[in-house]
Amino acid sequence: MRVLTTLLLLLLLRSAEPRRGPRSGGAGGRLRGRGRAGVMRRQTQECKEYMEAGEKYLDCQDRQLTTVMQDWPKDIHHLLLARNKIQVLRDNMFSQFTQLKSLDLQQNDISMVEEQAFSGLSQLTTLLLQHNGLKTASEEVLLPLPRLTYLRLYDNPWNCHCSLDSLVRTLQVPSNRNLGNYAKCDEPLSLRGQKLKTVKVDLLCEDNQVDPKPGRGDGGRPRPPPVKVKPDATSMCHTYMFPKPLLDCSHKDLNHIPSDLPSDIVKMDLSSNIIKHLRPKQFLLSKDLKQLNLSGNSLHHIDPAAFAGLLYLRELDLSNNSLHYFPYGVLEDLYFLRKLSLENNPWICDYNIHYLIYWLKHHPGVFYTGLICSEPQEFRGWRVEDYVKTYNGECPKDRQTEMETGQGNQGGGENEAQEVVGGTGDGQGGRLPRPLKEKKPNRIEIIRLS
Ligand SMILES: *[C@@H]1O[C@H](CO)[C@@H](O)[C@H](O)[C@H]1NC(C)=O
Ligand SMILES: *[C@@H]1O[C@H](CO)[C@@H](O)[C@H](O)[C@H]1NC(C)=O
Repeated sequence: MRVLTTLLLLLLLRSAEPRRGPRSGGAGGRLRGRGRAGVMRRQTQECKEYMEAGEKYLDCQDRQLTTVMQDWPKDIHHLLLARNKIQVLRDNMFSQFTQLKSLDLQQNDISMVEEQAFSGLSQLTTLLLQHNGLKTASEEVLLPLPRLTYLRLYDNPWNCHCSLDSLVRTLQVPSNRNLGNYAKCDEPLSLRGQKLKTVKVDLLCEDNQVDPKPGRGDGGRPRPPPVKVKPDATSMCHTYMFPKPLLDCSHKDLNHIPSDLPSDIVKMDLSSNIIKHLRPKQFLLSKDLKQLNLSGNSLHHIDPAAFAGLLYLRELDLSNNSLHYFPYGVLEDLYFLRKLSLENNPWICDYNIHYLIYWLKHHPGVFYTGLICSEPQEFRGWRVEDYVKTYNGECPKDRQTEMETGQGNQGGGENEAQEVVGGTGDGQGGRLPRPLKEKKPNRIEIIRLS
């Protein structure tokens, strides 16, 4: 806290200092300089500076910026400029940020990159330019970036003509595995939809590739719609790499989980869509996922293998859906789950709900919320655990006072061990008994056997 205050004070002092740039010579110059400094000050204050894992971040997202400011700190490692209004990347625009490792320029209006735009960024490894208006760029722009290993260029209207030739050749060098993936040609029509990674380079410089009319904006016929491909995650959603890899697919009217989910994502936001059904193994490749948000969909059915592969998932938000129960086995892949949000679902308190309670009971480290019966009428408003207890013939009254203290449980080390043992058992079939088909006293002994 004290460090932060000091930092803020320093910042204030710095910006209060009279500006002594080379340009503040004459009176007129000074006046103009002061005006500009005012603007800069305001914009700097709007950016957020913070440290994470020993690296310095400057978060200037969503700030209507058209360029970078001279008085931003120079020793930052990560510069977040997504969702601004930058149109042109000028020569040496970032050269004062010599420590920069990542630069996020996605979702601006960038239509031009000057050849020396990235000069001085010798430490840069990650450059995000997706969702802009780039039609062309040459290989030269990448030359000042010897350490670049991750470059995103998709969702730009790439013009696959001769001027793009050198860039495409660079992207296609096999060792440049993570440069320019998913980017596609928008023009000419004959190449539309082809990936820059795989388009035949020889075609780019062929004369017959010049579009006669469409797309020239000359008031001719409207463009034909782009080739319909199955929408995939990278074209539908926004990917942020820092501070944590995040895939934001919220509010996209998705009715299914997009295909091709990137594998390196740590947080995935699929909230506020219209997904009804989670099918088997759709997250299988998202093995690093720690947080998954499916809140505000129309989820009605979750397939037992839906969460397969989510070994490290810690937080799952299923609130505000249409779930009645979890089918048997659906939670078995989630060894490290810590938080489960279940509110605003019409949970039905009948036999099918027992699996969920059974699983939660054996995973006391999972903090869960929102498990309230909505049907049948006689149990409406009851906590689901209470319903299960009456079913088991335990006296619900005994428990009710204790329950007021809230749901969820704190996990202890012992419980975690138990969880892992439970989790590493053999396949789904033998590991757990079908919940509560027989009366409860046997249950615990059965799990101990595995
Ligand atoms: C999931 O998304 C909803 C809607 O955007 C939000 O309210 C909620 O806080 C999110 N959950 C988590 C765990 O971040
Ligand atoms: C639940 O989702 C619906 C539709 O997505 C939304 O309109 C509503 O505000 C959400 N409610 C809550 C409590 O999040």
